[in-house]
Amino acid sequence: MTPDLMAAGAQARARAVQQAQAGGGRGFVSQEPYFGQGVALYLEDISVSFDGFRALNALTLTIDVGELRCIIGPNGAGKTTMMDCITGKTRPDSGKIFFGSNIDLLRLTEPRISQIGVGRKFQKPTVYEQLSVFENLELALAADRRVRASLFSRLSGAQLDRIGEVLTLIHLKDEAQRTAGLLSHGQKQWLEIGMLLMQNPKLLLLDEPVAGMTDEETERTAELFLSLEGQHSLVVVEHDMKFVDQLTQGRKKVTVLHEGSVLAEGLLSDVQANDKVVEVYLGR
Ligand SMILES: Nc1ncnc2c1ncn2[C@@H]1O[C@H](COP(=O)(O)OP(=O)(O)OP(=O)(O)O)[C@@H](O)[C@H]1O
Ligand SMILES: [Mg+2]
Repeated sequence: MTPDLMAAGAQARARAVQQAQAGGGRGFVSQEPYFGQGVALYLEDISVSFDGFRALNALTLTIDVGELRCIIGPNGAGKTTMMDCITGKTRPDSGKIFFGSNIDLLRLTEPRISQIGVGRKFQKPTVYEQLSVFENLELALAADRRVRASLFSRLSGAQLDRIGEVLTLIHLKDEAQRTAGLLSHGQKQWLEIGMLLMQNPKLLLLDEPVAGMTDEETERTAELFLSLEGQHSLVVVEHDMKFVDQLTQGRKKVTVLHEGSVLAEGLLSDVQANDKVVEVYLGR
């Protein structure tokens, strides 16, 4: 390469880095979150208004690496809006959101945020009903661009192992060849969580994951989340206090949201006894 070409190459690369940093999304520069300071997710002073209504009001929140945090709060408290901001679906009016200590999520697009390791589970299960459980997991693997090229020719041993591991985790090993449309509501929810896990997200956001589940399914879901704790950071939004109790095991902190900010934080038994929390739940 002549010196001129080398200089041109260096300039092109510098431009790409700049574009990737400025616009997020299409950049091919790798952006690895840095978790060395123990912080998985950091929100500072996040505010969002819809037609003048403040859905989030200077919300500040830190989730540690490997932490399982339950977020509770009455309807309309801003829990889903908070997840929309983290995942890039809604842009806040002001504030900061960092993934690890280095990645400014407000500069990245929604697909990019998912690619760099933030997985989100919506309330309604969205699995491919016509495909088998196994094929659903296989497709989720294909969502990862790095493996898409090699897929559908033959799965590698490591990929097959990972599908097997996830099938065990989500209690669907015996249903691997079953058509997803035939699963129970709870099983579909697990399959969707399994699909998220195939992409090995560092942070999982789960919005009302046990809504509509039977008591037994709810209990199994709690076991599943507890088994993921430590390897992933989890943010779980739930109204089902028995489930929250099972997840927090009497020792983990929960966060109560109300009118778009943190109303209380602490052990479930403490926040449930907190007068302000009782008041907002009773709607007085
Ligand atoms: N896209 C939107 N446009 C207008 N208003 C919205 C929008 N999204 C949310 N809101 C409003 O913002 C407030 C917070 O809603 P959000 O869905 O975040 O609450 P939530 O805590 O998830 O409630 P729930 O427990 O019922 O799911 C609500 O008053 C809601 O109507
Ligand atoms: Mg909600």
